[in-house]
Parts: sequence; structure tokens; C-alpha cells
Amino acid sequence: MGVSIEGVGYYVPQKVLTNFDLEKMVDTSDEWITTRTGIKERRIAEGESLVDMAYKASLMALEESKTKPEEIDLIILATLTPDLSFPASACLLQARLGCNKAYAFDISAACSGFLYGLEIASSLIISNRAKKVLLVGAERLSQIVDWTDRATCVLFGDGAGAAVLSAEGEGELLASAMRSDGSYWDILYGERCGYLRMKGKELFKLAVRSMAEVCEEVIKRAGVSIADIDLVVPHQANIRIMQALAERLNIPMEKAYSNIHKYGNTSAASIPIALYEAKQEGRLKRGDLVLLTAMGGGLTWGASLLRF
Ligand code: UT7
Repeated sequence: MGVSIEGVGYYVPQKVLTNFDLEKMVDTSDEWITTRTGIKERRIAEGESLVDMAYKASLMALEESKTKPEEIDLIILATLTPDLSFPASACLLQARLGCNKAYAFDISAACSGFLYGLEIASSLIISNRAKKVLLVGAERLSQIVDWTDRATCVLFGDGAGAAVLSAEGEGELLASAMRSDGSYWDILYGERCGYLRMKGKELFKLAVRSMAEVCEEVIKRAGVSIADIDLVVPHQANIRIMQALAERLNIPMEKAYSNIHKYGNTSAASIPIALYEAKQEGRLKRGDLVLLTAMGGGLTWGASLLRF
């Protein structure tokens, strides 16, 4: 029995914050941000909660998968920016969607949240404990960004992505590998009721090395070759990280999907948003072999290889 992504959805706020806007806020330049990160603009939630964004992305995923809210058994929402400290944003989303037969919880795994959620959801589906799971990655990072710190404020954005998972479709999760190492916690963390803090240079090197390791592991375990992979959807943190990863894995950059120029780093939302857009653009089709990988605060990281 395989676990299939039956439908995906996304939502990003209307407000666009460009690199030129940031030039007026901190000592930076469009040239620096573009060449160092690949980011041109990001979206900022104004008057919208995390649950508002998660709701819109979820409606789209439910519609695409032709799933009624009451068919969902479980909602997992990955976020590091919930609206309240409790209850879980997943519970607020459950009520809003009318998923009245679902239980719901949040997970905190930073940028790896969607992949950790995929791992939990697929385990429950395969063991027959859930039939249909709504998995959401949503972030309002603009509320924890220090808008006076040029080293971080240019990188992040807001948004949400969602997927409906079940064993009924043709897709399959072929192999996955998840890791954490809390000894690196201070490389990327959020102060309690404060700001996101990051040691970018150290994180860059760790990101490339650790994502490459787990990608190689899942490729080997699934018994496929690099050439068989149709698309890599990496967490969108920095175009240079994606390029270095592709080079290390010996995968041409044309097979790596990126929309970082439009949204920046949206943490747990970045992979499902990218999946949605890759599908819309015809770059991701049913039957394709897709490699997902992410790394973020924790540190947490992982890779999942799917037959889409
Ligand atoms: O989502 C979780 C995963 N996130 C990541 O993996 C992020 C990983 N890190 C990165 O993407 C990169 O390290 C950054 C984009 C954060 C930084 O790029 P970098 O090439 O590592 O630059 P740097 O931190 O070494 O800074 C180089 C210079 C410094 O100036 P000096 O010391 O050389 O004079 C910085 O002060 O660039 C300066 N700088 C800036 N200049 C203009 C830092 N931020 C900015 C800025 N605008 N926004």
C-alpha cells in the first residue's frame, strides 16, 4: 500500500515586499539580496492570521482531491508561528473547515515540518489508523522577524501550503530519512516572545551537507538511480544552497524546482507551495519521481522520495 498526495493547495498574502522596499528599511541592496539568496520579493500577511492562510490553502487541497471535510481523519499543521500558544492552530483549522471527524495537532520542526508531517501521516495511513490526512505547512514569519536586522529580515516571507494524503491514489512514498541534532540549536532559533536569530554562514554549510546525506540515503534505499529522478523540490532557503545541493547530488539544476525569487523562505510552507506551483507549471506530473528535502531550526532535516 502506498501513500499518495491526492491534492495540493497554497495561499500567499496579497502584500508584496520587494528588495527595493527593504533598501528603504535597512542597509541592504537588491543586488546583494539577489546574488546572495535568489530572492526578489516576499509576501507579508496584513490583517490575516496563520489560520486564515492555512484555511485558504486547505480548501484548495480539499477541492483538488475531491475530499469532503468530514472525510478527513487527521489534520497535522507544521508551523513555528502559531496564532496562539495553545490551542494548536490545527484545531482552529479543523473547526473552520468543518472536519468534524478529525483530530488535529501542530508540529514544530521549523523548515522540515512538512517532511516530518509527511512521515507521521504516511505511517498512520499505512498502518490503517487514518484514511485521509490533511497536512499543512503555514507560517507568518513576518511577526518574528527583526525588521532592523539586515542579516535575517531580507530572507523570510509568509504563506501556506496544504496536501491531502491517502492510500487511495496512485502515488507512493518510496523512502524517507528524518534527522535532528539539538546540539546546533543556537544556529537558528526563535527567542521566547521575541525574534528569529540565525548564524547564516554556519547554517549554509550544514544545510548543503546534511540534505545531501539524507537525499543520497533515500535514493539508495529506494533502489533508484539519480537519473531516474524527475524533479527535486528542496526547501526554499537560498538559491545557492539549492545549486550546491544539486551539484553535490549530481542532478542538473533544471531538475530542481525553485520559486524563492517570489516568496523567500516560508519555512514549513515552502515545500507544499513549491509542489503546488510545480504542478501548475506542468513540471510535476502524476507518476513522476520526486525528491523532497529540507533543513531548518532544531536542527532538523530530512528527505522523502515519492512517486507522485
Ligand atoms: O530555513 C532554514 C535554512 N536557512 C538557511 O539555510 C540559510 C543559510 N544561510 C544563508 O542562506 C546565507 O548564509 C545568508 C544569505 C544568510 C548570508 O549569505 P552569506 O554569503 O553567508 O553572507 P555573510 O553572512 O557571510 O555576510 C557577508 C557580508 C557581511 O559583511 P562583511 O562582514 O563581509 O563586511 C554581512 O554583514 O554581507 C553582509 N550582509 C549584508 N549586506 C547587505 C549580511 N546581510 C546583508 C544584507 N545586505 N541583507
